[in-house]
Amino acid sequence: MKRVLLIVSGGIAAYKALELIRLLRKSGYGVTCVTTDNAEQFVTRLSLQALSENTVYGQLFSLTDESEMGHIQLSRSADLLVVAPATANLLAKMAGGLADDLASTVLLATDKPVLVAPAMNVRMWLHPATQANMTTLRTRGVQVVGPDEGTMACNEFGPGRMSEPAAILAAIEALLHPVRPLSGRHVLVTSGPTHEPIDPVRYIANRSSGRQGHAIAAALAALGARVTLVSGPVSVPDPAGVAVTRVESAREMLEACQAALPADAAVFAAAVADWRVANASDGKIKKQPGVAAPALELVPNPDILATIAAAGPTRPRIVVGFAAETNDLLANAQSKLQRKNADFIVANDVSPETGIMGGTENAVHLIGPRGVEEWPRLAKDDVARRLALRIAEALR
Ligand code: C5P
Repeated sequence: MKRVLLIVSGGIAAYKALELIRLLRKSGYGVTCVTTDNAEQFVTRLSLQALSENTVYGQLFSLTDESEMGHIQLSRSADLLVVAPATANLLAKMAGGLADDLASTVLLATDKPVLVAPAMNVRMWLHPATQANMTTLRTRGVQVVGPDEGTMACNEFGPGRMSEPAAILAAIEALLHPVRPLSGRHVLVTSGPTHEPIDPVRYIANRSSGRQGHAIAAALAALGARVTLVSGPVSVPDPAGVAVTRVESAREMLEACQAALPADAAVFAAAVADWRVANASDGKIKKQPGVAAPALELVPNPDILATIAAAGPTRPRIVVGFAAETNDLLANAQSKLQRKNADFIVANDVSPETGIMGGTENAVHLIGPRGVEEWPRLAKDDVARRLALRIAEALR
């Protein structure tokens, strides 16, 4: 029997931990709970104990707890550690390596995979401190499910609501019983912006962060694919287990993509500059009093997606493009599917008010052989996982 150590921290979503325990037990998992002091303001030890049919641990220096099972043993006794709900405070402690109670000590001492299900007020989730902590945790390999968007207990609307217990269970099953439908497959992914030089120190760029493309590369690798990620200049960390080629301009990106072929599938998530500067200068352009501002002459860049998707022996079997639009989203995406000879288009509205470009969430439509599917607004990691599964299905 696989065992889950469930750490419950103190958020209003703690009540959903009870349903998660019920689902885990029903699916045949052993569950041991660890609570923070605050968690017990929201759920009782008795309920956790009754549902998990197991002792609940709470205090670091409890003689009873320690004599039954020391905190180091506890941290390694399970196959997976799950933090649900994961409050902003506990996530910050994990990112900072603090260990001032049993929950944080167990998380620091463990050698097992960790899955967190964040749950907090929307402002707390979007705060740069929380976002920076999440980046740190992801870089260290911590798995994340959610949070979802919705109306929260505090009546505010936005991302921060803990994923539903069924979604957390699905994430747990994926980690404990990894299916590798893409093993033996090679997938090419592009990500990030491109930089088109004006002179040696200046360039034209765009707001793409690379978060979505990098998350897709990670999700494909998690399904067993060998992934080549061709990335423009980004500050997000390289995904684990993925071969990364760094490029700057669209022309370099095309070359790197061609060098990566053959591939079974290719996902073009990069925001490639449509134009480059034809009259880029070899030396820094000097500002001179009385001399007019230089005129930039723009010429079209190669379309990487259309080039790789053109029929021929090296065409990957499945080609996925993105359509980032600010109006007529679906019509533009549909015409892109045909014009570029892609099999799927992931369409997203990148109007500034959506906060999608550069943000951590995405709301997409998937356009493909089955028509148009509208996906709910999800964390970019969750969009990536869904897309990776669809690619695996299409390659079967
Ligand atoms: O034509 P548009 O730029 O809207 O198309 C977006 C899709 O095409 C994305 O998948 C993007 O990665 C890809 N693209 C490309 N090379 C370009 C322009 C866009 O691969 N030069």
